[in-house]
Amino acid sequence: MSIISMNEIYKTYGSGETEVKALRGVSFSIDKGDMIAIMGPSGSGKSTLLNIIGCIDSATGGKYFLDGRLIETFDSGEMAKLRNEMFGFVIQDFALIDRYSVYKNVKIPLTYSHKSISYEKDRVENVLSQLKILDKKNTMASNLSGGQRQRVAIARAIVNEPEIILADEPTGALDSDTEDDVMNIFRSLNESGKTIVIVTHDTKIASYCDRIIRICDGVIEG
Ligand SMILES: Nc1ncnc2c1ncn2[C@@H]1O[C@H](COP(=O)(O)OP(=O)(O)OP(=O)(O)O)[C@@H](O)[C@H]1O
Ligand SMILES: [Mg+2]
Repeated sequence: MSIISMNEIYKTYGSGETEVKALRGVSFSIDKGDMIAIMGPSGSGKSTLLNIIGCIDSATGGKYFLDGRLIETFDSGEMAKLRNEMFGFVIQDFALIDRYSVYKNVKIPLTYSHKSISYEKDRVENVLSQLKILDKKNTMASNLSGGQRQRVAIARAIVNEPEIILADEPTGALDSDTEDDVMNIFRSLNESGKTIVIVTHDTKIASYCDRIIRICDGVIEG
């Protein structure tokens, strides 16, 4: 069964003169354990689609089934739990908290998971080390480079071991070695059964994925 199933999804921002039809009848499904790339030109609706998949935003039309259940039937408590536990999200501007250290930023998704402090510490250090940024553990997020911020955002997205990882241009600011590291981390998460959806412009990144969903002007191609 599909973990994500989109049926004729529409998303319209604004109304009247400022109306933008960002998604116009998008249908596709993603099986559990798939690793998918979403590709398409700037403004084609990729981030909009990812935000809807991750329940950060809702569609204005169509049906979205998550793990077989229609998304509108989740109440707000279930929705908050979903966002916390089901999804790991790497968003386009990383959204780190500048006044927090790297450690504290990465720890955020574990806040409500009721794990022991020693588990938390091991887990955070483990992902920081996977992303080769453990030495920056106590650095304030405001004092990181673009590529370092990106790696911290990825560490934060995977620290909770979410079922589905959604990443919007996760490697845009990385050199090609670090990019390979990040893609290998995604691949091994995928091999351990996680579902991964990556928005990218980069055909090399897409080549790590099993399938490419192409979108243009809010419509899926092919
Ligand atoms: N909050 C918003 N309010 C109004 N219009 C929006 C909003 N967010 C996105 N849009 C519009 O919706 C369309 C799709 O935007 P989206 O951010 O999904 O594109 P994208 O494919 O992610 O582009 P990029 O590759 O540049 O990140 C664009 O025309 C954009 O201007
Ligand atoms: Mg975008």
